[in-house]
Amino acid sequence: MRLDKFISKATELSRKESKKILHASEVTVNDKVIKDPGVHVDIVNDDVMWAGEPLSVAAGNRYILLHKPEGFECTLKVKEHPIVTELIAVPEIGSLRIAGRLDVDTTGALLISDDGKWLHRVTSPKHEHAKVYELTLADPMDSDAQANAVKEVAEGILLDGDYEDTKPAILEFIDETHARLTLEQGKYHQVKRMMGYFGNKVTELHRASISHINLDGLEKGDSRFLTAEEVAKF
Ligand code: URA
Repeated sequence: MRLDKFISKATELSRKESKKILHASEVTVNDKVIKDPGVHVDIVNDDVMWAGEPLSVAAGNRYILLHKPEGFECTLKVKEHPIVTELIAVPEIGSLRIAGRLDVDTTGALLISDDGKWLHRVTSPKHEHAKVYELTLADPMDSDAQANAVKEVAEGILLDGDYEDTKPAILEFIDETHARLTLEQGKYHQVKRMMGYFGNKVTELHRASISHINLDGLEKGDSRFLTAEEVAKF
């Protein structure tokens, strides 16, 4: 955040008055006098003082969309693979949590935040947010096998070890080995297990969207903050 904005948020001063105290050398950032109102301050980690008194503004919650590449793990602890939060350059990484994990070899849309209630709204099956997965299959499925799978997935199937059928979902075939699956729930390894039910194996998996959030303009490994509107829509 710009320093003049930070000062006016942290005090009763207007932006103009904030510039005046900066020009009067009354403000330090990390113990150095700063006069330039356009200097960027990190609201969590920088130490801003006015006439020897600390200034602070509420950090607020962070809502991040990451285009997850393959090879990264959705955990916050160090494991055998690099972890997704290593790809995000924001302070206080430790307070972030992941909504709806992806497997190490899965790519695509991943939502990350430090707002627990919001994360719950995003992941709770009660709210029925559609997640679209694009998948590649190991074995080609002919038109009869495709039609059968589409029908069974639409009705719900009983996966190994589960007590109830999957919720009705939409399976669309692009060709014999490529399909799109739209789910409103997020069971453990759900896509791979659903394709396993039909005796097939998923060789590539990508989450293209979560509800109204897609990856348009975001390269693999890049992230961005969600807009206030995108956050509120969940
Ligand atoms: N379903 C899976 O099987 N894997 C994922 O990463 C996401 C959904």
